[in-house]
Amino acid sequence: MEYDSADMDARENDLLTRVGPGTPAGETLRKYWLPVGFSHEYNSDTPRLVRWLGENLILFRDETGRVGLIEPACAHRGTSLEYGWIEAGGIRCCYHGWVYDVDGRCIEQPGEPPDSDFKNKIKLKSYPVRELGGIIWAYMGKGAPPELNNYHFLLRTDGERVYTGYVRECNYMQQLENGLDPVHATVLHGRPVHGEPAAPEWMERPEFEVASNDEMAYYVARRQGPKPGTEWHREVAYLPPLLVVHHGGSLPSDPEPAMVDVSWRVPIDDTSTRSFTLRIYPAVEGKPRQMQTDRPRPAPLMRGTRKQYDMATINGQDTAAQVGQGRIVDRAREHLGHSDRGVIAVRKLWQKTIEANMRGEALPNLIRDPEKNPVVHVDVIEKLVKAGEMKDHVPRFVEVGE
Ligand code: FES
Ligand SMILES: [Fe+2]
Repeated sequence: MEYDSADMDARENDLLTRVGPGTPAGETLRKYWLPVGFSHEYNSDTPRLVRWLGENLILFRDETGRVGLIEPACAHRGTSLEYGWIEAGGIRCCYHGWVYDVDGRCIEQPGEPPDSDFKNKIKLKSYPVRELGGIIWAYMGKGAPPELNNYHFLLRTDGERVYTGYVRECNYMQQLENGLDPVHATVLHGRPVHGEPAAPEWMERPEFEVASNDEMAYYVARRQGPKPGTEWHREVAYLPPLLVVHHGGSLPSDPEPAMVDVSWRVPIDDTSTRSFTLRIYPAVEGKPRQMQTDRPRPAPLMRGTRKQYDMATINGQDTAAQVGQGRIVDRAREHLGHSDRGVIAVRKLWQKTIEANMRGEALPNLIRDPEKNPVVHVDVIEKLVKAGEMKDHVPRFVEVGE
């Protein structure tokens, strides 16, 4: 079955992929809280030059533990604050010592007379920042920020939390689309490496269904299990703006513990993306449970003209495939088939979100009323089951009531 390249043309490709200020996708992303760092990466002595949505910024934690995200060039003579010192209630420029607090206000100018009020006239652009679930969130939009979504995986304290961040030199859409592409798992990740199957549960080409609602797009895939009468049931969901839920994990009340595995694909700019991955291994009798997906690390299999990617790892395989599409894939030249229904669903839901934002309408997963921000579990399941046992289950929100 052929799909008409999901009707993509160059204009729509731009609409989905450009993230700078004033672009339709960029303005939509700026309506949400976005991950901009892991809390543990910011000790009080490490200001960093970062780049999010095409804007260069300084992210730092002051001596009292507050986190600031401010423009990088000192208002005095433009030196980058990445060389600054964390002291005196903020970040001190290395050049002449002006100090800025987390809101970008200048609070000290050592070279000016003591009675000068010059500093009160100086303010760098800053964005609101919060921390939740071990992640630093920034609101890069205008006006009052919305609520931070109370996803249960951000709030829960049971189990072992593992944070992983990595950068891929390609547009964020290539990573979001990959989440809802179950066939690639069979081919890219199912190919034996050094004679061993990389991911035995993904070897079979799956049967799968794709669906969307206002809040998420998802697939439900089924593959033959290792024994007759068993099947691998695998769901993955994309939640606008940037979240992919690979494993929703178990709730403390569930009889069988299962890990959480969620990733945000955050644009650094149009052509590079940082993934923020959070895994939670629920504790069983006080010990974090090892998962079936934790396998021994195979010997490297470096591939590419510069031997740049380790195709013995899932991450290396995905990097080769996604960066190999080019920095921004030209979607007007694709030939999409039946197997690309999930890719199309991601595009359509995000495009619908962008267009809703352009019309000034409500956006999915954007909560403004604190009364309407319950703790929700994103119920997305991958497990080996008796054939047909989970035939009616699809990804959904479950209120946890905490
Ligand atoms: S350039 Fe920063 S204090 Fe002078
Ligand atoms: Fe993959």
